[in-house]
Amino acid sequence: MTPSKKTIRTGVMGWPVAHSRSPLLHGYWLKQHAINGEYTALAVPPGDFTKTFSQLPEQGFSGVNITVPHKQAALEAITLAGGAVTEMARHIGAVNAVVFHANGPVEGDNTDAFGFMENLREKAPQWKGDNPVAVLGAGGAARAVCAGLAGAGVKEIRIVNRTEEKAQNLARMFGPSIIPVSWEDRETSLADVSLLVNGTPLGMAGSPLLDLALARLPAAAVVYDIVYAPLETPLLGAAKARGNPVVDGLGMLIHQARPTFEAWFGVLPEATSELREMLEADLRKGETT
Ligand code: ATR
Repeated sequence: MTPSKKTIRTGVMGWPVAHSRSPLLHGYWLKQHAINGEYTALAVPPGDFTKTFSQLPEQGFSGVNITVPHKQAALEAITLAGGAVTEMARHIGAVNAVVFHANGPVEGDNTDAFGFMENLREKAPQWKGDNPVAVLGAGGAARAVCAGLAGAGVKEIRIVNRTEEKAQNLARMFGPSIIPVSWEDRETSLADVSLLVNGTPLGMAGSPLLDLALARLPAAAVVYDIVYAPLETPLLGAAKARGNPVVDGLGMLIHQARPTFEAWFGVLPEATSELREMLEADLRKGETT
């Protein structure tokens, strides 16, 4: 780190954003790699998003992450400003990572599908993807899950969603590998799956519980919850109790951040066990306050 070099400014835009673990995550990597950079939480109400976003480059920002509820608005703002949106972000319909190039168009990407798959490969390397998969939800997060699974060659992805029309829209977007399933049939749809993913906020601290009996789920099926607060959701607790392998959502958060960090700071950081332990300790602290 040379003192003469300008600090590379980055951050995360969300509303609310105080709960975000991204500053902790990127701060860890900045320190580890001795990079002269900063990563801050930017609380931006929906009505202010477009204006605040457009002002970031002149404030010296090299890039930002985008989180709830701005991911779709970011895609629209970049498109309207003549920026570049990656194929993946367009496919998912949401941007979670932005680079403000010094001499070029603003670039919007989506690294959630990458984060989802990397975490699955790391935590459940035995999973092969040759049987059907069930995904609960059809929002932005579930679309990223579908993009990851379809990209990995999964032939049948059952989208179980409360509003069936949204699952049907997803099938139109992603093609014949997506099979919409009604919310009433969520338990019967589990009979022959190799993977069950919760892509809804159900089970998250402050959200309602997910009402799902696992009796029909095969014993070897992997159960993956993209929720990471709490780390062990009631779904993962129930799956673990009956012997299913489980994957929590913290690794997805870590892995989706890696390519973004590389785009801004030029180093692809690692998902070390020390980093995970630090984030786990922070999540436990949140549970007790
Ligand atoms: P995100 O972008 O984080 O995925 P979202 O687009 O609001 O958020 O999607 C949330 C998902 O959780 C949706 O699939 C939603 O179902 P609907 O399409 O029917 O709204 C699902 N969800 C939220 N609350 C739910 C509940 N109480 N029961 C069942 N599904 C729920």
